[in-house]
Amino acid sequence: MDTEPVAMAAPPAPAGRQRLPEPLGAAFLARPEETLAEIRETCPVARVRTPAGRSAWLVTRAEDVRAGFLDPRLSLSGGRVPDPDVRRRALDVTLVNYDPPDHTRIRRLATPALTPARMAAHRERIERAADELLDAADAARGRGPVELMDAFARPFAFRSLCEVFEVREEERDALYEPVALLADKNGRSARAVEDGVARIDGFVRGEMARRAADPGEDVVSRVLAAWHDQGGATEDEVASLLAMLLLAGFDSTVQAIGMSVVALLGHGDVQDSLRDEPSRIPRAVDELLRWDTPGPFGTKRVALEDVRFGDTVIPAGSGVLLSVAAANHDPRCHADPETLDPDRATAGRHLSFGLGPHYCPGSALARLELTVALTAVLGRWPGLKPAVPMDELTWGGGYLHRRLAGLPVQPCGPA
Ligand code: HEM
Repeated sequence: MDTEPVAMAAPPAPAGRQRLPEPLGAAFLARPEETLAEIRETCPVARVRTPAGRSAWLVTRAEDVRAGFLDPRLSLSGGRVPDPDVRRRALDVTLVNYDPPDHTRIRRLATPALTPARMAAHRERIERAADELLDAADAARGRGPVELMDAFARPFAFRSLCEVFEVREEERDALYEPVALLADKNGRSARAVEDGVARIDGFVRGEMARRAADPGEDVVSRVLAAWHDQGGATEDEVASLLAMLLLAGFDSTVQAIGMSVVALLGHGDVQDSLRDEPSRIPRAVDELLRWDTPGPFGTKRVALEDVRFGDTVIPAGSGVLLSVAAANHDPRCHADPETLDPDRATAGRHLSFGLGPHYCPGSALARLELTVALTAVLGRWPGLKPAVPMDELTWGGGYLHRRLAGLPVQPCGPA
């Protein structure tokens, strides 16, 4: 989640007053684990300067990161409760701008819509999407390489969202543009971003009207049904909730698919064993999420009071980054953490979906998509190798949300 919480918009501390380490720059995006391991083992609660010039505290040990996610003194709203009576567009204020109890009031409307059982009902259509995209990739490549992010990960994650939202075919192309734009605002003008938000707002409100009149089994209908039964949220809050599900559900999954394939390219033995026994893929998905994740940190929190982790007290008012990636490789939690073990017993304890009140509500859909994607890719191609040296892969995005610029792969072996 790369949204800055409200209170983090405070002006940066004057540069130069205190020299703080700056470990989260461009090199961090390609290999976050090395930087984070060093911090975790030498100074597990470390004050740093972020690339935006703000100071923040990094929390890196698994036990502390878990405690941090559950600590109500680490706030996403920064103590400012958005006024429900102010009219807002979808996405102006989202779930990650609230703390309980307002957060709970809104979020509970989404929970029943996204259970594993509800997501499983869409499985067949998601599998069909994967097969069709791989058919198209094969037809386009001849015997050459495939750009997996463009040909598969992005369109697959988008189509999966369209399936669970039951977006009408004729609306999908128009919806893709603002979703993709808001997922990667790099180089986009403020006007283009504004336009993207307005289009998402229009789409979501249109779907709310359509589904109020003609409910189905989709996410929008389920959220509306919960709202009808429980109330407790304004129309703007419901629109924002739905828009956030669309947006937060897209690029994290795209990147998680790419990062899982990168891990398997670097571990041919694991790749082959999962191809031979695809029934092990659902469990391996959690190990792949432990191994690497697009979000090395949870959303930035603000300490509302002094908060102690071990010997270190984070002062009230500080920005706090809970390092999911450092915790996922903490040997105190996962034995031999630098081995990719698809059968690891502790894999499910990874923190890549967070923990506590803001735990990712889309985790069941993300796990389903990853399982379907990896099963389809491994099943389709008897061997998969990187089409460029792995250290030439380009990483972009930012330290809160890493993004693979491209992933050229070469399918090989008998077809
Ligand atoms: C592999 C893919 C995904 C990863 C790694 C991921 C990761 C995360 C994490 C770490 C958080 C918690 C942030 C925090 O507490 O600081 C989160 C929250 C969230 N995620 Fe996901 N996510 C993924 C997929 C999805 C999908 C598919 C959806 C929607 C269908 C989604 C919707 C959300 C929303 C709405 C929140 C905010 C929840 C709240 O604040 O209560 N995510 N996600």
